[in-house]
Amino acid sequence: MKKLNMCLLSVAVVSAGLAGVGLADDDGDEGRYMRPWGSNARPGVAPVDYPLYRNECGSCHMAYQPGLLPAHSWERLMNGLDDHFGENAELPPGDRKAILGYLLNNAAGRSNYRVSNKFVRNLRGTPMRISELPYFVHEHREIPARLVKGNPKVGSFSNCDACHTGANRGSYNEHQINIPGYGRYDD
Ligand code: HEC
Ligand code: HEC
Repeated sequence: MKKLNMCLLSVAVVSAGLAGVGLADDDGDEGRYMRPWGSNARPGVAPVDYPLYRNECGSCHMAYQPGLLPAHSWERLMNGLDDHFGENAELPPGDRKAILGYLLNNAAGRSNYRVSNKFVRNLRGTPMRISELPYFVHEHREIPARLVKGNPKVGSFSNCDACHTGANRGSYNEHQINIPGYGRYDD
């Protein structure tokens, strides 16, 4: 039963994403149609504006913007904090609940930001990592491992702020990238 629900949910998310993408560039007939989700999207992803979240979830790595993962992923992640990628990141129940609420309200697909909308494209299942989402993989596929895993100043794709100089402000655009030891990235 649980599994079936998750399937239905991801189908809904995927089709919502596709509808947004399909209509987003079609700005010619304003007024004739309802404005599609996406066409008024703000750039980047909404910055973190909740101090409790920033403090509790930003101590080991940057506080990832809620708009980088869909709601069902945040839910799964927040339900397994005792084994969080091999670490114990458990929180007092009240804090956990407050943070979960913040993440769900601002998850990708629930806030109209351009980067968030892209992160919920072609989603399948309930990924636990931003760096596993199809859009992420697509955007980073040409970066050689020696600049990431093999780079002591980066270590893993989870460290967005090692390369994206605006990551903490929710800005990931390609003009604000500096891979340590490599310099400005031009493809
Ligand atoms: C005790 C340290 C610690 C705390 C506290 C912590 N994390 Fe993490 N988190 C990690 C580690 C370690 C990883 C895996 C990093 C890697 O693979 O390089 C991770 C990875 C993640 C990822 C996946 C990043 C990716 O690769 O896309 C998300 C999302 C995440 N954490 C969210 C949270 C949230 C939300 C909280 C607060 C409830 C939190 N973390 C608190 C240690 C922590
Ligand atoms: C090793 C450095 C590095 C890390 C770590 C990294 N990125 Fe990137 N990212 C890049 C580079 C380089 C590009 C541009 C790739 C290209 O244009 O070919 C990019 C592109 C992007 C884009 C598309 C930008 C655009 O304007 O097209 C987004 C969004 C993004 N990254 C988000 C993230 C997030 C979120 C994280 C962390 C979960 C992250 N990145 C981690 C290097 C990195």
